[in-house]
Amino acid sequence: MMKYISVAIDGPAGAGKSSVSKAAAQKIGYTYIDTGAMYRAMALFGIENNINLESEKEKLVSMLDDVDIEIRYIDDSQRVFLNGIDVSQSIRQEMVSVGASNVAVIPQVREKLVELQRKMAKSDNVIMDGRDICSYVLPNADVKIFLTASSDARAKRRYDELTAKGIECEFEKIKADMEYRDKNDSQRTVAPLKKADDATLIDTTDFDFDESVEAVLTLIRKRVEEVENAL
Ligand code: DC
Repeated sequence: MMKYISVAIDGPAGAGKSSVSKAAAQKIGYTYIDTGAMYRAMALFGIENNINLESEKEKLVSMLDDVDIEIRYIDDSQRVFLNGIDVSQSIRQEMVSVGASNVAVIPQVREKLVELQRKMAKSDNVIMDGRDICSYVLPNADVKIFLTASSDARAKRRYDELTAKGIECEFEKIKADMEYRDKNDSQRTVAPLKKADDATLIDTTDFDFDESVEAVLTLIRKRVEEVENAL
C-alpha cells in the first residue's frame, strides 16, 4: 500500500516558513499547504464586512457559514479563494497580518479551518505550515519541524519581502506588529504557538534561503528512507 508522507512545519511570523516550505515542496514534488493564508482570508472577510476583529469577534462567528475558503492550484502555484474570489495578493497586506492573528484566537474559526486542513492532508504527500500543525492539526505527521529565527532577523526579512513587492512599509512598524503577533500567537489559550516536544528545531537566523530549504529537505529525505525501509 502506498503511504502518503506528511510534513508539519510550525514557527513564528517571518521565520521564512512559507517560502522555505514552498521551495522544499517543489523540490521534492509534494503539495504545499499554507494554513496562515487561510487565517488571512478569514481576516480579510471580516475587514471587508467592517468587523472590528479585536472587539467584535462574535459578529464574525455568527457569519462563519457565509465564509468559503478554498485553496486551488493553478499552474503549480497555490491560490487562495474567498467566496470564489482570488485573494492571494490582498491577504498579504500588513493590516490583514494583524487581523489574522486576531481571528486565529477564535475557537470556532480554528475548528472550521483545521477541518479543511486535515481533509487536504489526507490524500496527498504534503508540507503544511502554520502554528499548530505539529501539535494539533497533524499530530501523526511523519516529519515535524519548528522553524524559527531571531525577531530582528524575522522583521528584517518581512520588511525586505514587502519592499521587494513594492509595498510601502516601515521597519519599526513591522517589528512592532511582529512582536504583537508573536505575543498573541504564543500566549493565547487556544492552540498557542509552541514547539512540539517531538519536533526538530531549525534556527535559520544564520542561514540563507537555500541553506534553510536544504535543512528541511535533509530531515524529510531521512524520514522517507526510514518509512520506506519499514514497509
Ligand atoms: O503565517 P502567517 O503570518 O501567514 O499567519 C497569519 C496568522 O495566522 C498568524 O498571526 C497566526 C495565525 N495562524 C495560526 O494561528 N495557525 C496556523 N496554523 C497558521 C496561522
